Amino acid sequence: MMRKPIIVGNWKMNNTKKSAKLLLEELNALLKDSAAEVVVCVPYTILDYVSTLIKGTNIKLGAQNVAWADKGAFTGEISAEMLVELGVEYVIIGHSERRQMFNETDLSVNKKTIQALKNNLKPIVCVGETLHERKCKITEAVVKTQMEGAFDNINAADFKNIVIAYEPIWAIGTGKTATADEAQETIKFIRSVVASLYNKELADAVRIQYGGSMNGANAKELMSKSDIDGGLIGGASLTAIDFSKVVNY
Ligand code: PGA
Repeated sequence: MMRKPIIVGNWKMNNTKKSAKLLLEELNALLKDSAAEVVVCVPYTILDYVSTLIKGTNIKLGAQNVAWADKGAFTGEISAEMLVELGVEYVIIGHSERRQMFNETDLSVNKKTIQALKNNLKPIVCVGETLHERKCKITEAVVKTQMEGAFDNINAADFKNIVIAYEPIWAIGTGKTATADEAQETIKFIRSVVASLYNKELADAVRIQYGGSMNGANAKELMSKSDIDGGLIGGASLTAIDFSKVVNY
């Protein structure tokens, strides 16, 4: 099964118009012939601006969160419809920073994923264990529970539009990458969970990324693993040279 690699830059709460413009100009020059699908998930405030900057390039637009409701009295929230209007194609859902600092749960992740799918946004659903959970050897149980929660009531036809990001929390922003074997092992497990929740065909087709201190130096080894189909890149997505090295691994 050939799955097209997908490299996603998660800018988190970084960049204003000025720095975004510089970064994207550099990036565009470096990514002209990339074989992978490339997405940048940028802050809400510059989605509109970045959408005009990347027109005609092979960089796609993503957001970092979405509301689970359609519209109405939800102060401070941004709806899927609003994102789509700005040309957003992908949305990160359930990033561990949102789970840990902004009270997101498997239930809210599920509701947001359903909402994204309903509006034709492609969800990048994040799962991953803490260091304590890994030490207790419950990584697989944790990730399975997160997946069962996230994909509850989502049918196979809709699931086709989902990308999964496996991000061990202890590897995010720490410079401590999971070894390629560790990442492969868990991602293979994640694929088997998709097979049990849906079927083998979907399990073979779903793209599963690794995320957590992935960079130009370790991308090649991670991407050489049979079940790893891409990366969700934080720190290294903020400089053109680093991000392009990951994309052009
Ligand atoms: P990092 O972040 O690459 O800086 O570790 C990854 C992420 O949080 O998606």
